[in-house]
Amino acid sequence: MFSTRIAADLAPNRLAQALERARSEGRSIIDLTESNPTRAGFNYPADLLAPLADPRGLTYAPQPFGLLDARRAVAADYARRGVSIAPDRIVLTASTSEAYSLLFKLLCDPGDEVLVPRPSYPLFEHLTRLDAVAAKPYDLEYHGAWSIDIGSVERAFTPRTRGLLVVNPNNPTGSFVKPAELDRMAELCAAHQAAVIADEVFADYELAPGAASRSAQVLTRRDVLAFSLGGLSKSIGLPQAKLGWIGVGGSDAVVGGALDRLELACDTYLSVSTPVQAAATELLDRGASVRRQIQPRVVANYRHLIEQGAATPACRVLGAEGGWYAVVQVPSLRPEEELVLDLLTADGVLTHPGYFFDFPRESYLVVSLLVPEPLFAEGVSRVLARSAAPAATSGAERDPSSRSWAPRENE
Ligand SMILES: Cc1ncc(COP(=O)(O)O)c(C=O)c1O
Repeated sequence: MFSTRIAADLAPNRLAQALERARSEGRSIIDLTESNPTRAGFNYPADLLAPLADPRGLTYAPQPFGLLDARRAVAADYARRGVSIAPDRIVLTASTSEAYSLLFKLLCDPGDEVLVPRPSYPLFEHLTRLDAVAAKPYDLEYHGAWSIDIGSVERAFTPRTRGLLVVNPNNPTGSFVKPAELDRMAELCAAHQAAVIADEVFADYELAPGAASRSAQVLTRRDVLAFSLGGLSKSIGLPQAKLGWIGVGGSDAVVGGALDRLELACDTYLSVSTPVQAAATELLDRGASVRRQIQPRVVANYRHLIEQGAATPACRVLGAEGGWYAVVQVPSLRPEEELVLDLLTADGVLTHPGYFFDFPRESYLVVSLLVPEPLFAEGVSRVLARSAAPAATSGAERDPSSRSWAPRENE
């Protein structure tokens, strides 16, 4: 009866089950996977959402790409980051996830392919499948710093490739795309009539000073159709406001063709609420106070992780340039899944295993840098101690054949 766009097996995964059990037993857990900024102890002014009551929200005047004022506000936000884009090349969406869906509809017929980085954002699996698109991986490799394996990008292209996704900076590796990497990828895309889709939701959050300004800019390109995705969810820590956007770059002719088609798709759904559009200018302005809290926290936690990691020679904290996550390479003394279950059941710390993000081999742990500093420090010291210690039997049930956790990470 049902389509294969949604997997038939919807049973909760082993980690979710163990977490549910631990919580029902009332155990306190340090959640080093917390990626919801509204639950991470930041100070959100009580009247932050007051602009949503703007009386302009009382009139419904549907516009497929959104109200011009809101699109201007988004263009001004790009300008704040040094990127120039005209408001008429901005399309408002309810979220970045919706932006992906619109772009897959624009570019792909069912069964067409998009290239996705590996390791990267677990939701790509669902986002592509829900739009009947195939995700083909290309590799990021780590040699003291992350880089894109351009050979793997070249090999991944087929006549059905319609888009190449980059996450800039990437979740969870924290790596920005470099101009030379984008040059080569744009060339490949242009040759295959494919578009570049750059997810820039974390572009505001540098862990290495200057990394963002040294990174590639997709919107300035004229040689390829390029999209930049962003949204309030990360830029001002308001995922519940449900406002995202697509910036469109490329030659006037190709951008015109893309916008004409996107207009029909956007007009079909009209999914962005009028109150959030009317509030966009003020929200972007006031929300800077949340961004200014998030930024120093992720930097402080990352520094702390580097220091603690250096004191634990068996573990290696991988270099990150931006974003809200960090990766720790740990000894492969036992499968990642066992380690993560041990950390939860024996140490009361929740982490994500690398394979959740499609790391090609074990053993890696991914931690969120959003966690309040003292909790983060305590959680990390337990993680490093357990990861470096020889495997011991703990309360966790073993099922070596199972890698049964459905990835779900969309906050
Ligand atoms: C790389 C990346 N893109 C997009 C999103 C989600 O953004 P939105 O809430 O706008 O759908 C996330 C959330 O974690 C993310 O990590």
